[in-house]
Amino acid sequence: MKKGLFLTVEGAEGVGKSTNISFIRSTLESKGIKVVVTREPGGTPMAEEIREILLKNRDERVVENSELLLMFAARAQHIENLIKPALLKGHWVISDRFTDATYAYQGGGREVDAERISILEKFVQGNFRPDKTILLDAPVEIGMARAHKRGELDRFENEKGMFFERVRNVYLERLSNEPDRFELIDASKQLVDVQVQLKSVVESIVDQTV
Ligand code: TMP
Repeated sequence: MKKGLFLTVEGAEGVGKSTNISFIRSTLESKGIKVVVTREPGGTPMAEEIREILLKNRDERVVENSELLLMFAARAQHIENLIKPALLKGHWVISDRFTDATYAYQGGGREVDAERISILEKFVQGNFRPDKTILLDAPVEIGMARAHKRGELDRFENEKGMFFERVRNVYLERLSNEPDRFELIDASKQLVDVQVQLKSVVESIVDQTV
């Protein structure tokens, strides 16, 4: 059966994911590809409720395992109820974050053992993985300055610089371990330059696929 392509977009805070995902979407649509844009945590009504639980600032300490399990609970809903059905229809799915974010934020940021994440990944996803992942990368100070300009910070954005250095390092490590799946974009550049890089990456993905 002809299936769509599962594309994920990753990066730390303030790297411009939303703007650049809109750009990726319009680039693909201009080539006649049907695109579904979604996000994690979230993407279905129940997964969006889990997102609210996860992002809310609260006085109670959030235990690392609760955070990790909620990420995968939301992901299970998202995969079965949105991502797989869309791919089966032949649509391309662009997800703003996926399991690489769990390795980066829970594994890197919160320093949860990567083995524990890998066990949950296999349990929830089986062999299901993104076909391609675009990593928007920028130095932590640049991303954080942009994120702080957006106004009120959520529970993750409120973390300190070292947390985001660990997040960024895990993303870069994953990119170097899986060079075929990942595409690196230098998101510290001006938006027009970022989009020049993105356009060529997206066109090469289309050329390899369609
Ligand atoms: P964002 O969509 O505005 O970036 O917010 C989602 C937040 O959730 C972001 O700070 C990263 C975090 N997150 C994790 O910690 N682990 C995950 O697996 C995912 C998908 C997101």
